[in-house]
Amino acid sequence: MPDTPPTSAGDVWTVKRILDWTIPHLKLHGSESPRLDAEILLAHARGCPRIQLYTNYDQPLTDTQRATMRDLVKRRAAAEPVAYLVGHREFFGLDFRVTKDVLIPRPDTETLVVDAIEALKPQAAPRVLDVGTGSGCIAISLAVNCPNAEVTAIDLSAAAFDIAKVNAETHNVASRIRWLCGDLFAPLTAGEQFDLIASNPPYIAAAEIESLSADVRLHEPRLALDGGSDGLDVIRRLIAAAPPHMAANGKLLIEISGEQADAVAQLLAANGHYDDIVVRKDLAKQPRVVRAVRKG
Ligand SMILES: C[S@@+](CC[C@H](N)C(=O)[O-])C[C@H]1O[C@@H](n2cnc3c(N)ncnc32)[C@H](O)[C@@H]1O
Repeated sequence: MPDTPPTSAGDVWTVKRILDWTIPHLKLHGSESPRLDAEILLAHARGCPRIQLYTNYDQPLTDTQRATMRDLVKRRAAAEPVAYLVGHREFFGLDFRVTKDVLIPRPDTETLVVDAIEALKPQAAPRVLDVGTGSGCIAISLAVNCPNAEVTAIDLSAAAFDIAKVNAETHNVASRIRWLCGDLFAPLTAGEQFDLIASNPPYIAAAEIESLSADVRLHEPRLALDGGSDGLDVIRRLIAAAPPHMAANGKLLIEISGEQADAVAQLLAANGHYDDIVVRKDLAKQPRVVRAVRKG
C-alpha cells in the first residue's frame, strides 16, 4: 500500500484494492494465511465485522482507516501476530483480550478444556486449579462452562493477570476466580486440595525456540514457551509437586507436545501417586493431553 495519494479515480484505495495489494505483500513476508490476516486487519482498521468487507468491496477507506491499515500491515509484515495487532483471539467460543504479556490461546488447548469439562461433570461443586493461566483462557472457559466450579488460577507473570482479570470481567466470572501470583503451587496454602488441576505449561525445548516461526519466537513471552533443555523442566516439577494438592481421585491434566507423550506418561507412572494415566489426542490426531488420577 504505497504511501501516495490517489491521482485518479482508478487510484482510490477501496476495500478490494487494499486486499489485492496486502495479500501478496503479507505472503511475500512469510504469512501462512495472508488472505485471512489481511481481512482481519482491514476489518479492524475499518471497525467492522470481517463479513462486511465482502459487501463493501468498492467502498473507499477514509484517510484515518488507511493510515491505521498501513501501520498494521507494516507490523504484520515484521511477523507481529494478528491477535496482538487486533488485541483479541477467540478460544472455546469466547473472545479473549491478548497482549504481548500473554501467550495467544491456541485451538490445541481446547482439547484440554473439553477433557476437563468432561471430568468435572459428575461433581457438584468441584475445586479447580489452572497452573500457568496466562490470558486466563482455561480458567475462564471452565468457570463459564462449569457454573458450580470454584476456580483458582496461578501464574508467575503479574502482567498476565492484568489481562486475565479483564477477560474474567468480560465473561462475568471474575467473582468466581481467585488469582494467585507465584511459582507453580507455591502460592497455595499447605494441604489445599483440588478435584482437578489443569495446566498448559511451557513445554518447548529451549534449543527449539530458535526454530519456531518468527511470530512466536520474536513476539510471544519466553516464560510461556521455554520448558528448559528437553522441554520437560516445568512438567517434571508439576508432576512432582501436584499430589499433595490433589484430592483423592482428583485429576491432573497436562497439555504436551506430540513427542512428549511417552516421557510424560513415564514420569507420572514413576512418581507412584498416580493411576489411570491416559494420553488424549487433539483434533489433528496428535497426542495433546496427558491425564492422570491421584491414587485414592
Ligand atoms: C504455555 S503458557 C499457557 C497460557 C494459557 N494457560 C494458555 O493455555 O494459553 C504457560 C503459562 O505458564 C506461566 N508460567 C511459566 N512458568 C511458570 C511457573 N513456574 N509457575 C507458574 N506459572 C508459570 C507463563 O507465564 C504462561 O502464562
